[in-house]
Formats: sequence, structure tokens, C-alpha cells
Amino acid sequence: MKTLRSHHCTQVNESLIGDQVTVCGWAHRRRDHGGVIFIDLRDASGLLQVVVDPDAKEAFELADTVRNEHVLTVTAKVRARPEGTTNPDMPTGMVEVYATEMEVLNRADPIPFQLDEDDVSEAVRLKYRYLDLRRESMQKTFRLRSAVTKFFRDFLEQKNFVDIETPILTKSTPEGARDYLVPSRVHAGEFFALPQSPQLFKQLLMVSGFERYYQIARCFRDEDLRSDRQPEFTQLDVETSFMNEEEIMQMMESMIRDLFKDKLDVALPAQFPRMSYADAVEKYGIDRPDLRNPLTLVSITDLLQDVEFKVFSGPANSPDGRIAALRLPQGCSKLSRLQIDQYADYVGNYGAKGLAYIKVNDLSQGREGLQSPILKFLPDDAINAIMERVGAETGDIVFFGADNAKIVNDSMAALRNKLGADLDLLEGEWAPMWVVDFPMFEADDKGNWTSLHHPFTAPKVDQLQELSTNPGNVLSRAYDMVLNGTEIGGGSIRIHQPEVQKLAFTALGIDDDEAEEKFGFLLDALRYGAPPHGGIAFGIDRIVAMMAGMESIRDVIAFPKTQKASCLLTEAPGSVSANQLKDLHIRLRASAQPKET
Ligand code: AMO
Ligand code: AMP
Repeated sequence: MKTLRSHHCTQVNESLIGDQVTVCGWAHRRRDHGGVIFIDLRDASGLLQVVVDPDAKEAFELADTVRNEHVLTVTAKVRARPEGTTNPDMPTGMVEVYATEMEVLNRADPIPFQLDEDDVSEAVRLKYRYLDLRRESMQKTFRLRSAVTKFFRDFLEQKNFVDIETPILTKSTPEGARDYLVPSRVHAGEFFALPQSPQLFKQLLMVSGFERYYQIARCFRDEDLRSDRQPEFTQLDVETSFMNEEEIMQMMESMIRDLFKDKLDVALPAQFPRMSYADAVEKYGIDRPDLRNPLTLVSITDLLQDVEFKVFSGPANSPDGRIAALRLPQGCSKLSRLQIDQYADYVGNYGAKGLAYIKVNDLSQGREGLQSPILKFLPDDAINAIMERVGAETGDIVFFGADNAKIVNDSMAALRNKLGADLDLLEGEWAPMWVVDFPMFEADDKGNWTSLHHPFTAPKVDQLQELSTNPGNVLSRAYDMVLNGTEIGGGSIRIHQPEVQKLAFTALGIDDDEAEEKFGFLLDALRYGAPPHGGIAFGIDRIVAMMAGMESIRDVIAFPKTQKASCLLTEAPGSVSANQLKDLHIRLRASAQPKET
């Protein structure tokens, strides 16, 4: 049988000069130099220059018909490149191979875009993803992704973690998103849910006595998509027994630190800074602040209760109101009126009804040195108190958000990010941190308690009683790892006692019957000697995207979905036959009938 390959392209180097090699791959580029044809042959290892001249008659005639992306095998002699034609930037830049035989293994139609073309629309890239993935940058990204998962496996295996698979066809695992459901043929009218995470199974594995589990797990969540969210994504999922939050955080932090050192030669801090949820929201308006951005929010709610300006006095006197100032340091008062209006429009996307500002032209002149449409509504003492609280200096501009706390936090956090990016304010390249001391519960629109993490998160030990008396006050033993403003991981110590789990369910409005129906298996398991346990899950797509410098996690997922949760390549989701639906006991509503094709 004929051998297609003796060497990979980039294995061909100066030590082989004079030898015959057989290489194969794709015709990356073909150049016709008046009588001599050059083909850059590309395989998974990289490029190699093939020279075909008319002396090798058959090969030459064939080379003449070769087009970009044809698949070739070439037998050739290795020789040094003539002086002046070497390319030190290429691993094979000192040599070329002189073809004696060539075979076209397969032809390629003209491809819809060139692999080195930059501005190809994402829709086209996703439709022809298999070609998009031929690009050097994509190949690099997926090799990095593979190296990252290998690193995680090695790190954890070395610490006695066991890789265990958990079911994909399962019961709802609540992480706060909608479930993807799979109808059962065998059980008419019943559905599996795809896991939003392996949360409950990993806890059961702790009851089983494995003590240390990990899995590179696919998770499914039917939620609104963004650049850092996909309906199916991959977690590095970890669970441990008999470790407290301090020990888990230290171990996981060292894993991430080692990863960055090993793969990017980046030294992350020896201790990741920690911040309570309350402080993060107070200073940054968000529980995943980008600490590279030096701007901070300052609450001035208490200074404005008595002013006549309703925009401020309203929130200042409302129990859930907040007024936050964001001081842009010196020089920024040069922002134009148009720029300020654009920022006001921008915060409007986050529900803000306006964006008040004061320009500090000359602090020493008091009111006269300030410039703002709202000055006339504010008495001197309020103005002075604000200037002092925010530490204003001449040349600054101070922005204000006033509304209920949620709108102020959302809009001012977004403004802070935008100003940081627009004005190039970010300091340093990597800013990891932990956010801790989360509340157990937050109120939804209707005032019902929902879990900030998931319902299996343990409360602080000394707040057990308050679960029933004052749930809004209870903090959890949860921790999130945040990198440059992205939540890359989250976990907690879990509830391991069935009575406590029931208290948490009760606070969430889940009564005993519902708890039994949905989570009876967990409550049972907790009764048979469940050890204290806790863990974490990292978003692998997010970590790899950041390491590879990609904007979107779509760029680090081989076959991602669009923002509308569909696959442009396979055109999934698609309609199914009437028979399949019948087998599954499903009848579609009139409004959901697929269009005739
Ligand atoms: P959580 O819901 O915080 O925790 O998820 C863990 C991490 O997964 C990533 N992530 C996502 N990545 C891409 N697309 C998504 N739609 C998406 N959703 C989440 C984030 C996040 O930090 N069972 C718990 C973990 C635990 O408690 O151990 C859980 O799933 O990086
Ligand atoms: P108005 O009285 O509505 O014209 O607003 C006067 C100034 O206050 C304008 O600069 C608005 O952009 C700003 N403003 C209005 N509502 C808010 C708000 N909720 N938060 C911050 N600034 C606001």
C-alpha cells in the first residue's frame, strides 16, 4: 500500500537536505513564476514550500491544475532555499522541496472566503465552519483549548480527583435558567431535562465516598445569549468532601495561577484579592468588577434627602433608592457635550432615565468653577458635600446615577466599563479576584426569594436560624472567581444536612411535597451519611477565550450556536416528521407548525 506521508510539513528542515520525503496536505497557495510553480503545502503542522519545474513533466502538468485547497501528496527532494529566498519567520523557511511525483488526492471547489481574509462575516464563517477552522489562528486556539483541558486534568488527577461522567438525559438541575427538555417516547407525556450543570450528581458522588471528583462537563441552559453565553457550554466541574471554602479556594486559585504561568507565562498575583458581594456592588455596581479599571462608584444618597431636585430627592428618600457618583479623573472635563449625550443614551440601555454630570473647571472657585445643567437645582452645601465625598479635583467630570439601586448599579457599572474602554483607562493586563459573602437569596420582581447561586448552597454556619426568620439577611458560603470583569468560576460549600436543605427550600417557597417530587432523591441521599462537601465549576469556554484574546466564546467553540441559539452549519434546530412527533406523543400548536418546505 502506498504511503501518503513520510514527514509532516514542518518536520522538513535543514538536517534532511538531500533526502527524499513524501508530504501531504492542502495547497495553501499556488504561485506560477514563469515556468516554475510554487505550492505552499499546508498540513496540521504548518507550511512547506514545494517547487515544481517542467523537468518533472507529469508533476508539473498536474501542478498546473492545482487550485487553492486541493489535497495533495508530494514526493520530493529536500534542498536549501537559494540565497535571498529564505524566510526566517517560517519554521521551514530555510528549505524547500523539489517535487518528483505528485498526486491530487482530492479537488476543492473555490472556497467561499480565503483563509487569510480578515473581514469575513460571522454568518459565513459559521455556515462553513469546517473551512473557518482551517485558519491558522483557529487551529492555534483549539490547540490551546486542548492544552488547557489537559492541564486541568493533569493538575486534578495528580491531587487524586476522579473523572466521572454524569447523565445528560436527566431531571431538572436548577441553576436559574430554562431547561432544554427531551420528550420520552417510552413514558408518554414525560420529559428528560438536559443538565444545566452536574450539580446534584456531583453531590451524590460525595455521598458515594469519592471525596474528590472532576469532570469536563457539557451544560445546557436555555437563556438569553451574549458574547460570553452559549446554550451549551463546557464546565470544569469539581467537587470535594471534607474541605472548607478556604482550602477549596486556595487549591483552585493555584490551579488557575499555574495554568496562566504554564501556558501564557503570565504571573498572576500570589493571593487573589477578595471582596465581599456588598463591597463589590457598592464600589462597582456589579458582583464581577473589572479591577483593571481604576474608576469607582461613590454613594451620595445620604447627602441629597433635602434637595428640591426631584431626580435626586426621590431616590434619596426611597428605601430601595441609590444615588451614585462616578468621578472621571482630571483632564476628562474635556469630554464634549456630544460625548456626554452619547453616554446618557448608553446608560439608557440599562434603564437609566438620564445621566447628570458636573464638570469641575476650577475647584477653588466653588459653584462658579463648576459647570452643569443641574447646579441650579442644588444648594451650596449639597454641592460642597458631593465634591468632598467624591474627592473632586480641577479638571474632573463627575457623573451621577439616581434611581432604584438596581438601575443605578446596572447602568453605572456599564458606564464604568465603557469609560474604561473608551478612554483607555485599564491598568495592567490581568486582574483575578474572588467575590465572597454573597447573600443566600435575592428577591425577584414579585418579591419572592430566589437563590443567588443555587438552592444547595450552604448558609454561613452562624446564620442557620435566620433561614426561617430573616432569609434576606443570610449570607452564603459561596465564592465566585472573576477575571477582568468576567465570572470564570463559581462554587460553594453545600448543604449536607437534610433538615437544613428543607429550610432553604422553604425560604424559596418550595413546600415539602414539591421538594419531595423534585429533589426527593437528594434529600434521601443526604440522610445516608452525606459528608460535608463543596466545590466549584469553571467556564472553560470563557477561560480559553480570555487566554486566546478572543472577544466571544463562540471563537473557542468548534461548532457554536448563533445569538438566536441556532446552528448555521447544520441548520439545527429543525422540524421533525409527523411520525416522530406521534412516537413522542406530541402535537404542535397551530402557531408552531413548521413552514412548508
Ligand atoms: P455557575 O452557574 O456559576 O455554577 O456556572 C459555573 C461557570 O460556568 C460558566 N457559565 C457559562 N459559560 C458559557 N455559557 C453559559 N451560558 C454559562 N453559564 C455559566 C461561568 C460560570 O462561572 N453548579 C454550579 C457550580 C458549583 O456550585 O460548583 C454552577 O453551574 O464561567
Ligand atoms: P431633567 O430635569 O429630566 O431635564 O434632568 C436634568 C439632568 O438630570 C439631565 O442632565 C439628565 O440627564 C439628568 N437626569 C435625569 N434623570 C436622571 C437619573 N435618574 N439619574 C441621573 N441623572 C438624571
